[in-house]
Amino acid sequence: MKKQIIAIGIALACTACSNSEDKMIYKDPSSPVSERVEDLLSRMTLEEKIGQMNQFVGVEHIKNAEATLKEEDLHNNTANAFYPGHTYKDLEKWTTEGLVGSFLHVLTLKEANYLQGLALQSRLQIPVIFGIDAIHGNANAPDNTVYPTNIGLASSFDTTMAYRIARETAAEMRAMNMHWTFNPNVEVARDPRWGRVGETYGEDPFLVGAMGAVTTRGYQGDLNSENDVLACVKHFVGGSEPINGTNGSPADLSERTIREVFFPPFEQNIKAGAMSLMTAHNELNGVPCHSNEWLMEDVLRGEWGFKGFVVSDWMDIEHIYDVHATAENLKEAFYQSIMAGMDMHMHGIYWNEYVTELVREGRIPESRIDASVRRILTMKFRLGLFEHPFADEEKSMDIRLSPQHRQTALQAARQSIVLVKNDGILPLSKDKYKNIMVTGINADDINILGDWSAPQKRENVSTVLDGLKKIAPNAQIDFVDQGWDPRNMSAAKVDEAAAKAKKADLNIVVAGEYMMRFRWTERTSGEDTDRSDIDLVGLQNQLIQKVAQSGVPTILILISGRPLGVEWADEHLPAIINAWEPGMYGGQAIAEILYGEVNPSAKLAVTIPRSIGQTQIIYNHKPSQYFHPYATTPSTPLYPFGHGLSYTTYNYSDVVLSKSEIPANGTLKASVKVKNTGERDGVEIVQMYIRDRFSSVSRPVKEMKGFARVELKAGEEKEVSFEITPQMLTFLDVKMHPVVEKGEFIVMIGASSADKDLKKASFFVK
Ligand code: BGC
Repeated sequence: MKKQIIAIGIALACTACSNSEDKMIYKDPSSPVSERVEDLLSRMTLEEKIGQMNQFVGVEHIKNAEATLKEEDLHNNTANAFYPGHTYKDLEKWTTEGLVGSFLHVLTLKEANYLQGLALQSRLQIPVIFGIDAIHGNANAPDNTVYPTNIGLASSFDTTMAYRIARETAAEMRAMNMHWTFNPNVEVARDPRWGRVGETYGEDPFLVGAMGAVTTRGYQGDLNSENDVLACVKHFVGGSEPINGTNGSPADLSERTIREVFFPPFEQNIKAGAMSLMTAHNELNGVPCHSNEWLMEDVLRGEWGFKGFVVSDWMDIEHIYDVHATAENLKEAFYQSIMAGMDMHMHGIYWNEYVTELVREGRIPESRIDASVRRILTMKFRLGLFEHPFADEEKSMDIRLSPQHRQTALQAARQSIVLVKNDGILPLSKDKYKNIMVTGINADDINILGDWSAPQKRENVSTVLDGLKKIAPNAQIDFVDQGWDPRNMSAAKVDEAAAKAKKADLNIVVAGEYMMRFRWTERTSGEDTDRSDIDLVGLQNQLIQKVAQSGVPTILILISGRPLGVEWADEHLPAIINAWEPGMYGGQAIAEILYGEVNPSAKLAVTIPRSIGQTQIIYNHKPSQYFHPYATTPSTPLYPFGHGLSYTTYNYSDVVLSKSEIPANGTLKASVKVKNTGERDGVEIVQMYIRDRFSSVSRPVKEMKGFARVELKAGEEKEVSFEITPQMLTFLDVKMHPVVEKGEFIVMIGASSADKDLKKASFFVK
C-alpha cells in the first residue's frame, strides 16, 4: 500500500513538472491559489465538477452498516449508511473516476490513505477532503485525545483553553489525514429536552460566540499548513430551540429572536474566518434550512460576506422531499437546495446523476456549479491537499494521544466540572471517610467520554472509580456495579447498594445519562436522543434515594450531556457535582475535586431547570416572563446560568464606572474589586451583564457582555475591568434597525446570573 502511495505521489509531482506545452498551473504550488483553482476548473468536465460537490461515507462504514442496518431503516438513521443497490466497490470506482469530492466517517488512517490513493488515480488527480465530527478532540475515531464536550468546555469560560484544544485536535486530525471538522457547533441551546445540548456552548449567545470563534481560529490557523484543518460552523439555524424538543423538528422563531439570539454566534464565527458552514436539519418558519435562500445567500453571503462553502447535513437535502415535502421529488429537492446556495451534498447516490441532468436541461446554470466547485477547490488548495495528500502512518501516533495533549485533556476536565451544591462536606477528608461505597451507572464506564466518541481503549479512560483509587489509594472502596444501561437496572442491585450504604462512611452515586454512539438505540442523550422529561432515567432516582436513606453522607456526581432536574437530590444530599461529559480524564479530575487537590472553578453555561415544565427557562428572558409565577412550583431554576461553587469564597466590591454617561462612539469602563476571602487559592469566573432599563422594544432582564477568569491566591484582591461599548447596547428597534436608545442602562457584575450574586450600577446614554 505504501509503495503504491509513493508511486502515485511521484506521478503527481512529475506530471506537474514534465509537460512544458500545457502548463499545469493547478499542480504548481508556487502559483496563487485563485489561479490554480481557475486552471483546474477549466479542465474539469461537468460530471467531475458535480462530483466535487458530493460526499460519501467511507467504505469501512458501508461494510459495517450493511452488516447491521436494514434498507428500510436507512431513512431514519443519521449515524449509519450504505447505498442500496450499490456496493463499496462501486464507490471505489467512482472515486477513481473523479466523481467523489469528499468522504466522511472514515475512522482510520489506513482507510483514509487508501481512499486518497484511489482519488489520485482519477484523470485530474484531485484529492478528496476528509470530513469528520471531531467535536471534542478527534474522539469519534479511535486512539485520539478526548477532551470535555463543548458544554463542559464552555463551563470553564476559558477561551485560551478552547483555542489550545482546537490546535491540538487539528494536529491529531492531520495525523490521521483528516482535514475538516464538523465543529464548532454554535447553536444557542434553549431546550433541555433536546439531546444535543452537550455539543453546544450553552444558552448564552455571547459565550457561545466567543468559545466558537476561538475554536474556529484554533482549527484553521491561517489555513495554510499541514497542522490546520477546516472548521465547519453548524447548524444554521434554529434547531436548538425545536418546537417539541426533538432533533430536527420545526423551529418557529421571530426574525427578532433569530437575529438577536441565534445569528450573532454564527456571524462572529464567519468574521473569525470560518470557511465552511453546515445547514440545520429543521425548517425555519416553514422553509427548510437546506433550501433557504434567505439564510444561505441573503444573510450568510450577502450580509456577512461568507467566502467559504456550505455543506448539507446528513441526507437533509433528501429530506426537503421525503420529510418536509416542499419538493415533489428528489431531483427537485437538489434543484431547490443548490439554487438556494448549497455547495456540497452530505451524502450519497443520485446527486451526480440528477444534478447533471438539471444542468443539461438548463435549469441550473453551469456557472452556478462553477461557483460551488471554486469554493471547495479553494479549500483543498489552501489546506495543501495537492502537495500532502497522505499522512504518515508511522508518525501518526507520535502526535495523537501525546503527553502534552493528554495533559490538556486533564486540565480541561478539571476546569469544566461544576460543583453545584456543597454544604461543606467537600473537599473530602481522607481521615474521616475511609470506607466508601461507590455505585451508579456512570461510576466505571467509558461513557464518561461523552457523545461523539468512539469506544476508546479502556486504559485511555479514567472513570470515577479509577480516579478515586488513584487519588485516595488508602480508602476502602466497595463498588456496587449497576451496569451501564439506565433502562435495564436491577432492583436487586439497587437494594444491594442500599444495604452496603449503611456500612460505609461515605457513599458516592455516579448517575446521569448514557451517550455512547456505538449503542445508538440504548442512549438517553446525544444526537437524535431527545426526551420529554429531564429526570434521571430508570432506577437511578430510587438508587440515590435508597442510598441516601442509609443516613450516611451521600454525594451525587452527574455525567450528562443535558441538564438534569435533580431537585430531590438538591434538597437531601450534601453535595452534587455536575461533571457534564468530561472526557478521557474525567474520573481523575472528579476525584481531584472531591479530595480538594483541585479547587473547582467552572460555572454553568446553561440554566438547570427543576423540571421540564419550566421550559423555556433561560437567564436572559424578557421582563414579563415571571410576572405571574407558577402557582404550585417555584419559578426559579434549580441552578442559574453562571452558577458554580468553589472551596474558597470571593467578595465583590461595588461596581465603579469610569463615567456616568457613555459618549457617542466612545466607551466606558466598569470595574469591581474581587477578593479571595477564603483560605485556598482559586479561579473566579467574573461575569458582567447589562440591561437596557427602558426601551422601545422589550429587552432581556440581563445579557452577558463580558466575563473573565481571574486567578486569586488566598487573601488576594484584584481589580477586574470591562470595557462597555455602544455595540453592547445595540438592539433592533420596531423596524428591525439596529439602534442604541437613550436612557438608563444597568451594569451588573458578579459570580452568577442570579440577582443575589450581582453588584449593580447605572450609566446613561444621552
Ligand atoms: C449531524 C451533524 C454531523 C453529521 C455528520 C448529522 O447527523 O447532525 O452534526 O456533522 O451528521 O456526522
